[in-house]
Amino acid sequence: PLATTGELIAAARQNNRAVAAFNVITLEHAEAIATGAEQAGADAILQISENAVKFHGGSLTAIAAAAKAVAGTSRARLSLHLDHVVSEDLLKRAHAEGFSSVMFDASKMTYAENVKATAEAVRWGHERGIWVEAELGKVGGKEGEPPLDAHAPGVRTDPDEARAYVEATGVDALAVAVGSSHAMTERTAALDHELIAALQRAVPVPLVLHGSSGVPDAEIREAVRSGMLKINVGTALNTAFTGAVRAFLEAHPSAVDPRKYLVPAREAMAGTVAHFLRQLEG
Ligand code: G3H
Ligand code: ZN
Repeated sequence: PLATTGELIAAARQNNRAVAAFNVITLEHAEAIATGAEQAGADAILQISENAVKFHGGSLTAIAAAAKAVAGTSRARLSLHLDHVVSEDLLKRAHAEGFSSVMFDASKMTYAENVKATAEAVRWGHERGIWVEAELGKVGGKEGEPPLDAHAPGVRTDPDEARAYVEATGVDALAVAVGSSHAMTERTAALDHELIAALQRAVPVPLVLHGSSGVPDAEIREAVRSGMLKINVGTALNTAFTGAVRAFLEAHPSAVDPRKYLVPAREAMAGTVAHFLRQLEG
């Protein structure tokens, strides 16, 4: 059934575990996330990013409706989250399109600008019952971004700044830069677990790990034990999807019906979803 992100986060917190949010690009992604969550017996968040909206010609409506329909008919509890929102126009559509949460991404702004823009987004969201996540520090690695030096000042999230930021903005959850990076196709990221523990002590709201595709299972489990509550996974689904399509087309070079290769692609993504969900018990 369709749940709200706030409900799923509260349940994860109560059960000392984390909830995963998976990026939805196509209908098959949403179906695979539902299947994987059912297989693992876990909740999950269906997240649609601003970049995915751009892929759908700038329209949120169709892909949001698809994700919502999948959630409504699933045995797993699934919520809808709008991810990495930079555009205020898109932010303002979240409520009407059925999203219970958004991640407002002002991470490219200066600290002062980030605080101001995020506080406004939070005020707007809370008036409509929307749960708002924001990022402090720079996870980096998103499409079109230059590679980051993960050790440069201002890249990793500072615990004192995080405390002040959460107080000043009123965010419901904080995405932190602790060693992961977006769009990794190998699981080689090393997390700073001392920093995660320090951030967990510094801020009262749940912490969010972005770029989890590149983080090894053992590191994810340790991060959950240190208090990471929302684990965002995108690229790993695409790696599974594309690998399955490539293998099928290599073995069947004359295939033309997309259903023939989307079935293994969807199964591969569901397997990846279930695998990640099984790491979140802390
Ligand atoms: O917000 C989305 C996530 O941070 C996904 O990152 O594609 O590197 O797993 P990823
Ligand atoms: Zn992210």
